[in-house]
Amino acid sequence: MKPIQVGLLGMGVVGSGTFNVLRRNQEEIKRRAGRGIEITMVADLDVARAKSLAGDGVKVVNDARAVIANPDIDIVIELIGGYGIAKTLVLEAIAAGKHVVTANKALLAVHGTEIFAAASAKGVMVAFEAAVAGGIPIIKALREGLTANSIQWIAGIINGTTNFILSEMRDKGLDFAVVLKQAQALGYAEADPTFDIEGVDAAHKATIMSAIAFGIPVQFDKAYVEGITKLGAADIKYAEQLGYRIKLLGITKRTPAGIELRVHPSLVPTKRLIANVEGAMNAVMVQGDAVGTTLYYGKGAGSEPTASAVIADLVDITRLHTADPLNRVPHLAFQPNAMSDLPILPMSEVVTSYYLRLRIADETGVLAKVTGILAEAGISIDAVLQREADEVGGEGATFTDLIILTHDCVEAKMNAALAQMQALPTVLEPITRIRKEELA
Ligand code: HSE
Repeated sequence: MKPIQVGLLGMGVVGSGTFNVLRRNQEEIKRRAGRGIEITMVADLDVARAKSLAGDGVKVVNDARAVIANPDIDIVIELIGGYGIAKTLVLEAIAAGKHVVTANKALLAVHGTEIFAAASAKGVMVAFEAAVAGGIPIIKALREGLTANSIQWIAGIINGTTNFILSEMRDKGLDFAVVLKQAQALGYAEADPTFDIEGVDAAHKATIMSAIAFGIPVQFDKAYVEGITKLGAADIKYAEQLGYRIKLLGITKRTPAGIELRVHPSLVPTKRLIANVEGAMNAVMVQGDAVGTTLYYGKGAGSEPTASAVIADLVDITRLHTADPLNRVPHLAFQPNAMSDLPILPMSEVVTSYYLRLRIADETGVLAKVTGILAEAGISIDAVLQREADEVGGEGATFTDLIILTHDCVEAKMNAALAQMQALPTVLEPITRIRKEELA
């Protein structure tokens, strides 16, 4: 049988990795897929560079629409990124009857509903394993491997840049801004790293996993998103002393009232495997009612790890493209007519435990006032840590840090208590609040 023909839009790091892996492993991939898979056409604005990367026998053009218009192309890989032209081209490829493989989490988290509906109406597949956690086959695991389960929660380190930054801050006792510069110099963080450090990239990925886990539409606009820019080396150190590491987690959880969907720094017990995921690596924990806790670990970005996911999608499509569309795996794991309308909960209704750090005047009665406010709010304290003033502020300091770990309480209650504590004249700086996840 003649090879299935693929057109590639955007010849960057992942595109060239996809060429390399397809060429290197073509025999095995063919034995798995049942027929050869060939990228025969590439569109990139830098035609000369793309030609040198693609090699002989590949047609390279600067117009993506020429790829979409080519009747010989069966599958279009979109590696342009973003919600702009990428969205238009994906919708045009679908309208032209092409199957689509994309690594574009931003596009799917924001416009997934429209894109999946268009694909279903046209009877084509949109595959996106590379959009979440790079080379880790987490979409496959959630959508197929765990299909027997009622999934209870997912918690993941799904942004390598921020995990690298947090690891370096902890290892070397450095502040955020210093490590960010190092991450940029090493090529981990983008020149504009906003999406990474503000938690947006992780929230795109968490949104997609949430939809697949619970059979709800993608709803990025309802996700709570908080990045790591305000974290200080002191909090990482105090957390360590209390037996925790700070990780940027993407969390989605089923509760009786609705679905939690949130990205924020979290204290995680050091004894959990996921707390020991360091550097630019990714890891995703999934809790299912039948299987219990599972953990998936690997490279969340990079040329060949991401190509590994792109090619897995090419193989899936090659195997399934002649199947009746009704017999294919649904885009969001659940049949489109069986989606749930469970609401995404506002952050004020989320229940979690907390780490609080208060810079306080070293005076009589401050601790009693602070704990009194928490007691009155019905918030139970789990642990308290206070250092001598000299240790925190140097010889003769008149202030110190008070660290409090709480048991679970609803966020709205904590917000009210924080406002009261912040108003005390003996609380000298904005209070640091970091949520805590036991992941038991
Ligand atoms: N910028 C992402 C990260 C990689 O740092 O993990 C691609 O999603």
